[in-house]
Amino acid sequence: MNKTILTGIRSNSILTLGNYLGALLPMVRLANEYSKEWQVNIFVPDLHSIISDVDGDLKENTIRTLKYYLAAGLEINDNVHIYRQSYVPAHSELCWILNCVATMGETSRMIQYKEKSKGQESCNVGIFDYPILMAADILLYDATYIPLGEDQFQHIELTRNLAMRFNNRFGEIFTVPAKTSDQVKFMKLDEGLRIRDLLNPEKKMSKSTAAENSKIMLDDDPEKAAKKIMSATTDSLGKIKFDMFNQPGISNLLVIESQLTGLPLEDVVATWAGQTSYGDLKKKVASSVSAMLSEFQSKLASISDGEVYELLAKGETYANEVANKKLLEAQKAFNLR
Ligand code: TYM
Repeated sequence: MNKTILTGIRSNSILTLGNYLGALLPMVRLANEYSKEWQVNIFVPDLHSIISDVDGDLKENTIRTLKYYLAAGLEINDNVHIYRQSYVPAHSELCWILNCVATMGETSRMIQYKEKSKGQESCNVGIFDYPILMAADILLYDATYIPLGEDQFQHIELTRNLAMRFNNRFGEIFTVPAKTSDQVKFMKLDEGLRIRDLLNPEKKMSKSTAAENSKIMLDDDPEKAAKKIMSATTDSLGKIKFDMFNQPGISNLLVIESQLTGLPLEDVVATWAGQTSYGDLKKKVASSVSAMLSEFQSKLASISDGEVYELLAKGETYANEVANKKLLEAQKAFNLR
């Protein structure tokens, strides 16, 4: 098995607690556990950002997103590589080659594309091609594990299919990433993470939802964030159980608490079993969220841009070296070289 873990987060705006718990924190935990023996690649997919509007300056947002990893506790050593997608041109080149391997049928089935395009002809082609560029991001580095939230699992399955198809046709060129069920086990989860909207817990928490109280942003004032948890939608069943179908609001709070404390979900659920009112649980989750934000924000303020640029200089040299080698293999497969 190739020992590379890789992940990316777009930096279109400030991130949410969903991004933090679904992607940032799992990656930081895995990186700190595995980076003595594994390569750990963390990159900002800035080319993926331009499929939609960007709040603020993309270059500055990118640096902020990279600081988030450091503020969340990422330990740096020679096996941890940080880079920007657009600074490694091989991503775009491999994307084109994979475009000629992927089918319209499989790409049109992607849920994110269907939701974002809603059948509009005016939707840009980048929205359609998004998962193919994502496959290139992963396959260039032979990554086996890609810590992501559950909404991205379909893209991992597509990446696996493209890698297998390419390899069947041309020989073993790409590492096929682990199945999503194994990705989840690697992240030490029972199932993929999907942090819910606080007001409409049937939906995922998303930065693009307009209602302020539906989401917690990483720059929220900790007290304000605590209030948002206190006003989260629950239900009138009067029992504390993990049941995403019948009690999505309560289940969401239990998941947030388990992720923030690092305790297994079943232990958190057991602590609250038998309670008939939700006030104390809400208070506990509110205090976990506000404590996390206070610590995260004060660490964030202490990280300089210079530190990040230094890591990028090293990371981008490494990434170009690895990616160009793999790209050459793919180019040779098609007799381009
Ligand atoms: P992005 O920026 O849309 O999402 C970043 C990460 O946050 C996770 N996430 C959530 N997890 C749990 N609950 C939520 N409510 C929630 N909202 C967002 C997403 O699952 C994701 O992990 N396509 C990627 C970016 C990317 C990438 C890659 C990642 C481009 N190329 C290659 C890995 C490997 C994305 O969704 O970004």
